[in-house]
Amino acid sequence: MFPPIFVWLFIATWITTIFASPIDRSLAPKNLLLPRAPTRPTLTGAPVPIGAGTYPRATRLRDGTIVAVYTAFQSGSNILLTARSTNNGATFTPLGEITRGASNANDIDNAYLLQLPTPSTRILCAFRNHSKDPVTGTYTFFRITITASDDGGKTWRYLSQPASDPGPVTGNWEPYLRTTSDGTNALQLYYSRENNAQDQDTLQRTSHDGGLSWSPATCISGCGLTARDGMTSIATINTNTNSKSLILVYETSSAATAGLFSVGAVFSADDGRTWSGRCTIYTASSPHTSAGAPQVINVGGTLVVSFMTNEDQRLQAPAGAYTETTAVKVVTSGDGGKTWGNKVTVGERQSSWPGLLDLGPAGGGGGARFLYLLERGGLGVRSQLMTLM
Ligand SMILES: *[C@@H]1O[C@H](CO)[C@@H](O)[C@H](O)[C@H]1NC(C)=O
Repeated sequence: MFPPIFVWLFIATWITTIFASPIDRSLAPKNLLLPRAPTRPTLTGAPVPIGAGTYPRATRLRDGTIVAVYTAFQSGSNILLTARSTNNGATFTPLGEITRGASNANDIDNAYLLQLPTPSTRILCAFRNHSKDPVTGTYTFFRITITASDDGGKTWRYLSQPASDPGPVTGNWEPYLRTTSDGTNALQLYYSRENNAQDQDTLQRTSHDGGLSWSPATCISGCGLTARDGMTSIATINTNTNSKSLILVYETSSAATAGLFSVGAVFSADDGRTWSGRCTIYTASSPHTSAGAPQVINVGGTLVVSFMTNEDQRLQAPAGAYTETTAVKVVTSGDGGKTWGNKVTVGERQSSWPGLLDLGPAGGGGGARFLYLLERGGLGVRSQLMTLM
């Protein structure tokens, strides 16, 4: 006698249940990375013009607008200009002016934008705001200044000066802003502090009042090393068990590398308070050449790093005319920053100072699209749409 069909079904279900759960558990690796976008970057469509200038950066406001910033050089002045895109970067239109200063007496550049957390709609811009002797060109004062816009990036006014040091050599450069994710909405400012020509450290200051006042500086990378760390950028790492939850990338050079730059990283498991695990993530592929000026973003779980490099030149030591011979490229990591690959050239020779913006799920690319901003010598600042495939 065979048991009735419902008894077989019961037995089958029971067997499936008792065997399925231990098998499922054993298949789940301890360091499983969360689902992520693909890792192969591809250029999507033609580059989009933004304006005449250099050092482009961009941020996405919560209403979906993209605001870009860059340094223009017009009528003997350095000018920080903003541009806006309301179509995910398909086109940009001029928006506003942050500040300007006569180029012989001011070195205004290196702008970085961040919108404050809700309910504020304010946008901050951090930039280098140095004074020079108009006759000799010697730096008399180095500053990182913060300005604020309450109308979406059109008009701006002075907010604070988190770093301010006399010249002529110990500079403050390349500010980067982020909001902590611990619920306190603290702001972290990162910038590069020159100790001497061979030695520069990444410093951090914190603000609990939206960028009005700042803590004393703490050293984040390059501390105690004779290495020139700079061009800081930070992204989150999507993992569930990996404790390295933030990555900070920088360019660095040392006496040992004969002043040539490579791209390095440190990691933080405590929302940016402490950093460790110093490592190299990209070294130029040919002798006497550099790879530097990195930025990093998280695109749907895949880490994307942009950089400029003259590695395609065949140079005899010492390497000269670095920024006239650089291309801009990108590498990605699908394992939270442990390994890097999929290198692609985004801007040919005479491209420089790249910036990155994740387009996010709202970008129409399912969380796999981003903008690559660059200066293309003679052709101005432009944005290249990229897709991870
Ligand atoms: C740049 O620094 C100078 C000197 O402190 C300051 O007067 C000026 O307001 C700053 N620029 C902006 C746009 O805030």
